[in-house]
Amino acid sequence: MAEQSVPTTGREWHLAARPQGWPTPADFALVEAPVRQPGAGQILVRNAYLSVDPYMRGRMNDVKSYVPPFALGEAMDGGAVGYVVASQAEGFEVGDAVLHGLGWREYATLDAARAVKVDPQLAPLSAYLGVLGMTGLTAYAGLLAVGSLQEGDTVFVSGAAGAVGSLVGQIARLKGAKRVIGSAGSAAKVAKLVDEYGFDAAFNYKDGAVRDLLAEAAPDGIDVYFDNVGGDHLEAAIGALNLRGRAVLCGAIAQYNDTTPPAGPRNLALAIGKRLRLEGMLVGDHYGLQPQFLADMAGWLGSGDLRSAETVVEGFEHSVDAFIGMLRGDNTGKMVVKL
Ligand SMILES: NC(=O)c1ccc[n+]([C@@H]2O[C@H](COP(=O)([O-])OP(=O)(O)OC[C@H]3O[C@@H](n4cnc5c(N)ncnc54)[C@H](OP(=O)(O)O)[C@@H]3O)[C@@H](O)[C@H]2O)c1
Repeated sequence: MAEQSVPTTGREWHLAARPQGWPTPADFALVEAPVRQPGAGQILVRNAYLSVDPYMRGRMNDVKSYVPPFALGEAMDGGAVGYVVASQAEGFEVGDAVLHGLGWREYATLDAARAVKVDPQLAPLSAYLGVLGMTGLTAYAGLLAVGSLQEGDTVFVSGAAGAVGSLVGQIARLKGAKRVIGSAGSAAKVAKLVDEYGFDAAFNYKDGAVRDLLAEAAPDGIDVYFDNVGGDHLEAAIGALNLRGRAVLCGAIAQYNDTTPPAGPRNLALAIGKRLRLEGMLVGDHYGLQPQFLADMAGWLGSGDLRSAETVVEGFEHSVDAFIGMLRGDNTGKMVVKL
């Protein structure tokens, strides 16, 4: 077995209590746990970057969903990239960089079959959690495969300065959208969307009723709505969608910390006359698009046509702060934790 010296214990974040409404630091516990040596077919990874994602909030509730809930008193998991420090698996050497699903911990022991080798020469390691990873594929597949983007479409995306949203707007522009509109939660984010990401118009959803702000930004209506937010954003988009418009239901972050069921959208019946298509999506259904996605992304990143932003929080002990901060909107682009 190839091996590097590794400590006998490492830290991991446990879910200590199920959050009621907004999560607080008291819902989590930083725990010192033994580092398990890899068995046959396994690798031991020292994590370098962890992903904190909105869907993790849903996993903190004890409800049945498309991913099982986190168990109380156990390490949470999620996307991570790191370096192999010990290997009992053919094809994996000490020093290899890998992407895997055992985040929220400093060291991860896992079956090598559940890890994917990534190339740190090709892109910074953290990019495999963002623009070249699950986040990027969500934007790409959601807009093109689910939203059926056509050249000349007007596209509206909410959560537009976030990880998925900032890519949706840019991909729409690169694929020939006529007009790209975004909403975000601060004046600085709105300015960034227009000045740096090439959006045609953007607004701060905290400045007024989304319906009015969207009508001003999209006087001729919209053809595709990429929904990261739900609630009043979805309702406003249903109102603004043109005949045979499409809404990609990707996320509903405005509701993730709600303790009562959300109201609306109250105008859903408009979908009948306008023959709208509102379609939910999960990125896991679209891994078949991976080769085309990576080729397009690599091309756009290489030519400078696409910008990827990251907000990096330093220090494993700040992982929970990063997670709660992301829910609050502290991030522009992908929120990651650097260990
Ligand atoms: N379906 C799938 O397979 C899939 C995969 C990945 C992600 N998603 C979904 O995609 C969405 C974006 O995920 P992401 O990873 O890219 O996160 P993100 O957008 O980078 O971060 C979350 C952002 O949500 C915004 N936000 C928080 N509360 C809000 C509210 N009440 N109203 C409007 N915006 C609010 C904040 O930005 P502001 O400052 O602008 O408020 C924050 O930065 C989430 O809904 C997520 O669940 C779905």
